[in-house]
Amino acid sequence: MPVDRAALESYLDASRTRRMDAYRDFLRIPSISGLPDHAPDCRRAAEWLADELRRGGAEHVSVEETGGHPVVYGDWLHAAGAPTVIVYGHYDVQPVDPLDLWESPPFEPIVKGDRLQARGASDDKGQIMIHVRAFEALLATSGRIPLNLRFVFEGEEESSSVHLDGWLAANRDRLAADLAVISDTGFFDGNRPAITVGLRGLSAAQIDVTGPGGDLHSGGYGGTVENPIFALATILAALKGPDGRVRVPGFYDDVRPLSEAERDAIARLPFDEAAYLEATGSPALHGEPGYTTLERRGARPTLEVNGIWGGFEGEGTKTIIPAHAHAKITCRLVADQRPEAIFERLRAYIEEIAPPTVRVSVRSLGGGMPSLMPIDHPATRAAARAIEATFGAEPLYIREGGSIPVGASFTGLLGLPVVLVGFTPSDEHAHAPNEWMDLRNFETGIRAVATLWHELASLPR
Ligand code: BES
Ligand code: MN
Ligand code: MN
Repeated sequence: MPVDRAALESYLDASRTRRMDAYRDFLRIPSISGLPDHAPDCRRAAEWLADELRRGGAEHVSVEETGGHPVVYGDWLHAAGAPTVIVYGHYDVQPVDPLDLWESPPFEPIVKGDRLQARGASDDKGQIMIHVRAFEALLATSGRIPLNLRFVFEGEEESSSVHLDGWLAANRDRLAADLAVISDTGFFDGNRPAITVGLRGLSAAQIDVTGPGGDLHSGGYGGTVENPIFALATILAALKGPDGRVRVPGFYDDVRPLSEAERDAIARLPFDEAAYLEATGSPALHGEPGYTTLERRGARPTLEVNGIWGGFEGEGTKTIIPAHAHAKITCRLVADQRPEAIFERLRAYIEEIAPPTVRVSVRSLGGGMPSLMPIDHPATRAAARAIEATFGAEPLYIREGGSIPVGASFTGLLGLPVVLVGFTPSDEHAHAPNEWMDLRNFETGIRAVATLWHELASLPR
């Protein structure tokens, strides 16, 4: 049974004002999961979302404890004999600094032409709203959904989903399903419809280097004791060669090589490398030799230094040998690398090369598994048909460089195939100032989700 388009359109037409009001209300809640001061806001966002699900007709809606920020659960399970789909999104957002670069306050959403601008507009509150609205519209217009849905909206994705696996494992039986649909990715190179078939994983670490018991006069001690910043710089310089290849022994051991067919498929993507370079603002692109930019971004691992600090950074001169120096590192991983194994190899290597003249400690800041989804799964094909029918273009199949830890958990813990359907433009400023969502994608995304449920329901079981 296809979607009743006329009924859906007239419902969506009549509810447009409320839909936009709700979207903005959601965006006004500063649910930054990484900042402890915002824990009450995360809870408020969860409660708000639970109410919204209830109002849309979801059942068994609850805000569930995880040990961290809560999970919002709700379901609709009245399509006997039809498949059951878990719908995933995250209601938490990234911090907003630097604030002075925002054209309008991050939690005061504003519409500019076709754009809605606010933190979370696309990553990922907008995508959650697409699902809630599609569900509500289908139920309101036909009294039913063509399949069974379980909504799982988490509040810690931007903080490595630390407590989610525990919650999933504890609720395994309750979460019985046939498929997980994750809406937390986007379109390709500007705004070409895309289905993501690969996500990188993450392994995060902090290096702390300590030398003297306190800052020392660099006249009295310079040239006689090790400088922790120099020691740290030496360590960092040894992690990656100037050619862009990671030098941690064993780093590439578990990387699944790209087949010729996979490389061809990546090479065929309509990628504007010059525009990509320009968007970075860098003078040149740089990365592992032997791979294209798209391969480096989505199909090869990397090691990056995210920040480095220590010593004196003020105006003028302060003649010291600093007592300590620090760096934060994240590795992006690809199948079949594992975050724990990569961290152990990184730690072992740093301990091996650390000069004996300083104390060096390396600690893990968590991570997430990489994932690869089959392009030819019937559910992926169904998603492609739903996207083509609504956005008017066949989707591209892309590997993203970013990470969504739950992708691997749905498969590893619940045994489910995963389809990543997301609707944000690729230049939406996620994590950056002036994040925005294209409201045309938002509107069409609602139709695409409604169509997807019908496509999935009509698959042979
Ligand atoms: N939605 C992103 C993941 C993503 C990024 C998908 C780029 C597609 C393209 C997600 O919210 C995110 O930012 N994930 C973090 C995960 C980390 C904190 C474990 C990331 O990739 O840095
Ligand atoms: Mn996200
Ligand atoms: Mn994000």
